[in-house]
Amino acid sequence: MSPDLAAAEAAFDPRDFRRSLGLYATGVAVVTTVAPGGTRVGLTINSFASVSLDPPLILWSLAKTSPRLGLFAGADHFAVNILAKDQEEMCQRFARPGEDRFAGLETAPGAGGAPLLPGCLAQLECARDQVVEGGDHLILIGRVLRHRRGGGLDALVFCNGAFTGIPTERH
Ligand SMILES: Cc1cc2nc3c(=O)[nH]c(=O)nc-3n(C[C@H](O)[C@H](O)[C@H](O)COP(=O)(O)O)c2cc1C
Repeated sequence: MSPDLAAAEAAFDPRDFRRSLGLYATGVAVVTTVAPGGTRVGLTINSFASVSLDPPLILWSLAKTSPRLGLFAGADHFAVNILAKDQEEMCQRFARPGEDRFAGLETAPGAGGAPLLPGCLAQLECARDQVVEGGDHLILIGRVLRHRRGGGLDALVFCNGAFTGIPTERH
């Protein structure tokens, strides 16, 4: 390791790094899949990004500490449910540990059975394309098989640890 890199590493504060990253405003999504026994699985993410239009590819990253790591890394399909401004409760529900996150929630089965949540701005049904190592996260790249928009345009936005909404112009 070069002395420059070693000095940078020694001075690096992960919590401070997180605060800098947190100033990048993002949308919020819930990624879902179905476990081999049929149980619905999902978690809130903001690491979603588009990758390629042709072929249609997207990515998101999953913390390696997640108990759902094996399920998502091994799942043939997953769905990305992009949340609307009025879905903060949905966002919180899928970020809370230790409860049935789908309790009382009616979902439709997308590709491979991955649950599609109600009231979302858009949904992407994906086949797993690649799983790439990314430090303490796994990067999941999906090939979009089908997608749809729910009709709304106002996105839930996450920035600096807080939620806001972006009212977009109607057209
Ligand atoms: C706005 C927001 C964005 C999040 N983004 C991610 C993400 O991109 N990747 C990730 O692994 N966890 C992310 N999380 C954390 C997970 O949602 C949360 O830790 C997870 O649901 C806990 O479940 P687990 O038991 O699967 O770890 C995010 C949480 C919130 C509130």
